[in-house]
Amino acid sequence: MNEIMIGNEKFVPFISEEAIERRVKDLAKELSEEYKDRVPVFIGILNGSFIFLSDLIKNFQGDCEVDFFKLSSYGDEKISSGSVRLLKELNCEVNDRDLIIVEDIVDSGLSIKYMEELIEGHHPRSMKVVTLLLKPNSLKYDVKIDYIGFEIPSKFVIGYGLDYAQKFRNLSSIYVLSEQG
Ligand code: IMP
Ligand code: MG
Repeated sequence: MNEIMIGNEKFVPFISEEAIERRVKDLAKELSEEYKDRVPVFIGILNGSFIFLSDLIKNFQGDCEVDFFKLSSYGDEKISSGSVRLLKELNCEVNDRDLIIVEDIVDSGLSIKYMEELIEGHHPRSMKVVTLLLKPNSLKYDVKIDYIGFEIPSKFVIGYGLDYAQKFRNLSSIYVLSEQG
């Protein structure tokens, strides 16, 4: 893993592909046990969660279904715009279903808070949240995250689904913006 220059900003290796793979397998195992008698619906929040969700369900043992919400909050910036827009609703029936919301990263918690309120209106049987990354020091909303891949400092990260101005989602490991620039 080498550093990446984007303009004059330097991103350095942060979480390796192997470390991500190990952690995702652990999370999938925990979820497989927790939902062994049910058929949960994994609900990915687009765009960032698609790679994590894909690896998570490939390692999930048992039947499951998948659907997506699309939210927009960051635009093309490195800091949250502070507002959320719903760009795509769910297609499946979720009332009385066991839902697992899948996020790439929880920063302020605004997106998850918004999702929770939206989904409560659909009357699911249960709802849990799994995120690959959590920035605990950035949380501004009271949200309960049930499964966390990694807790990370409040720094901007890219790769494994996470973008910077829509690019770099295709990196197979995670990079962090270096202080030195
Ligand atoms: P929140 O609503 O403030 O919790 O922000 C969550 C959303 O912001 C995530 O789903 C990401 O799309 C985006 N986001 C937050 N932090 C980062 C980051 O460090 N890199 C890339 N996207 C981020
Ligand atoms: Mg994003």
